[in-house]
Amino acid sequence: MPEQPTVLVVGSINMDMVMRVARMPVAGETVHGDGFTTSPGGKGANQAVAAARAGANCIMLGRVGDDTFGQTLIDILAVDGIDCDNVMITPETSTGAAMILVDGLGENSIVISGGANMALTPDDIFPRSELFSLADVVVLQLEIPLPTVRAAMDLARRHCCKIVLDPSPVPGRLPDELLAVDIVAPNIIEAEQITGMQAAEERADRQVASKLVERGAGAAVLKIGSRGSLVVSADGEIARVPAYRVDIVDTTGAGDAFTGTLAVAVARGNRLADAARIANAAGALACTKFGAQTAIPTWDEIHILMEDQREQSP
Ligand code: RIB
Repeated sequence: MPEQPTVLVVGSINMDMVMRVARMPVAGETVHGDGFTTSPGGKGANQAVAAARAGANCIMLGRVGDDTFGQTLIDILAVDGIDCDNVMITPETSTGAAMILVDGLGENSIVISGGANMALTPDDIFPRSELFSLADVVVLQLEIPLPTVRAAMDLARRHCCKIVLDPSPVPGRLPDELLAVDIVAPNIIEAEQITGMQAAEERADRQVASKLVERGAGAAVLKIGSRGSLVVSADGEIARVPAYRVDIVDTTGAGDAFTGTLAVAVARGNRLADAARIANAAGALACTKFGAQTAIPTWDEIHILMEDQREQSP
């Protein structure tokens, strides 16, 4: 198993516009916020940063707009050593953007404007077959058009890459063919949206994860926040992996830190439960700082947290 696997992320790149609020406004209400900032985000880009900081060779395939945000976001990804040769600048289009409110408990609400992300088409994917031939794992999310995700899955399968899908945001209906991946890694809300089932209780979340496997996933790894994660695989592996204890500042991008790190840990040959434990640590650390990419930990930071809280391991 490669110590430094190659992870190809096909996905979104956004500029996040973030504001802190004491509590979320309700419809028709205006509330005071503070700490307005712009910071790099987008689920695809966040997952690429997580994979790179976890020690992978990381290649990003996506699109930005022909505005200043676009080049800035590419430059920021390059600082983490991410290969951005296949991040295209899209004429007359704005870069993807996200409006994010973070409340006093660190929980967020996010609205995205796809911009250039939605201009990433299967025609951008199929001529780049050689990228898939380099990749051990292909990481996908749903902030780009679904036919593009499907095209990336096609090429990934042809090149025998593992596929990790973070099915976020969930479209109205997620066809089973998009769940036919090695690992699907939704959070609990997304898992409920995909299956139409309730997952709030412990036994129920296992049924929801099993449903995702029944619908075609090789394994489902559910991100359950303070309850850690749950692994259910088609070959019978079932594991509850406890969460790490941290002081939460901002949960934005924690799920992306989890997914990008999970992809690297799996590519290094870890059992799924062990990979989920490493990913839990990455997700927890990502909650301790403000912002998405700015909060994603390095492999060393992940290890320090795991060592510090070792007694939590089963
Ligand atoms: O998962 C967090 C991300 O969701 C943010 O960075 C934002 O850009 C949206 O894509």
